[in-house]
Amino acid sequence: MSTASVTTPARIEARGVTVRFGGLLALSEVDLAVPPASVVGLVGPNGAGKSTLFAVLSGLLTPGAGAVLMDGQDVSRASAQARARRGLARTFQHPELFPGLTVREHVVLAYRLRHTRHRIWTDLVTGGGFRRPPVDEERRVDSLLAALGLTGVAHRPVSGLPLGTSRLLEIARALAVDPGVLLLDEPSSGLDARETDELAATLTRIVADHGVSLLLVEHDVELVLGMSDVVHVLDFGVKISEGSPAEVRADPAVRAAYLGAEHGEERASA
Ligand SMILES: Nc1ncnc2c1ncn2[C@@H]1O[C@H](COP(=O)(O)OP(=O)(O)OP(=O)(O)O)[C@@H](O)[C@H]1O
Ligand SMILES: [Mg+2]
Repeated sequence: MSTASVTTPARIEARGVTVRFGGLLALSEVDLAVPPASVVGLVGPNGAGKSTLFAVLSGLLTPGAGAVLMDGQDVSRASAQARARRGLARTFQHPELFPGLTVREHVVLAYRLRHTRHRIWTDLVTGGGFRRPPVDEERRVDSLLAALGLTGVAHRPVSGLPLGTSRLLEIARALAVDPGVLLLDEPSSGLDARETDELAATLTRIVADHGVSLLLVEHDVELVLGMSDVVHVLDFGVKISEGSPAEVRADPAVRAAYLGAEHGEERASA
């Protein structure tokens, strides 16, 4: 063993990732690591490359150059499903839920996908449904529902749930597979200020209680700065800043990128 590898490898890491769409350089040699039990934020103005990097990490997009590692292993050629089996979970910007099922049933399904892989299909095919759940399953599902503040709506069908509640359910479902790292794509989009505060508090608690790592890809810069241990800032596919929230907040390059994006000519007067 090399003596250089004394630190624990990142749960997931992008190394030198480059993506081109035709003539457009969407990502240029981007590095980003999500260490164990940490919250890492990824922000940047519109078109900066955030969603592209998210797709590369989750295995939906193959980069032109660079590598993706999970727990120190190169997974660049592993499918999204294979990365999920290695402990990567993600949510989607638009929650994809089954209208006929209750909140609790969504979490049960996700739990069984991981813990009783073969059984879920026979249940679905035979109509065995949700009978006789094992004690472990009951306990785990109930504790996830409680952690996300969903106990009160556990038996409601998901159709008609407010967006904020659907997002919390998506996160409960993602956690039901016991991931090592959770990638969140714009988790606050469509939420009001109160729902966003609740989401931030819930996510912070989950990291502390479950030891899961989070990568937060967000438009809401304040949410990211408020929650993250480390923040990365992309602009036009290039990493322009990386550091603690305080460092990133004070970085003139970040101010220029955001002011440039929002105010055009006015950036010089800031
Ligand atoms: N499939 C694609 N084909 C061509 N160009 C693309 C594709 N996906 C993204 N792009 C371009 O790549 C650049 C980065 O896009 P990306 O969606 O990663 O940015 P983003 O930071 O997520 O932006 P936003 O904040 O608007 O979500 C943009 O210029 C975008 O138009
Ligand atoms: Mg995006």
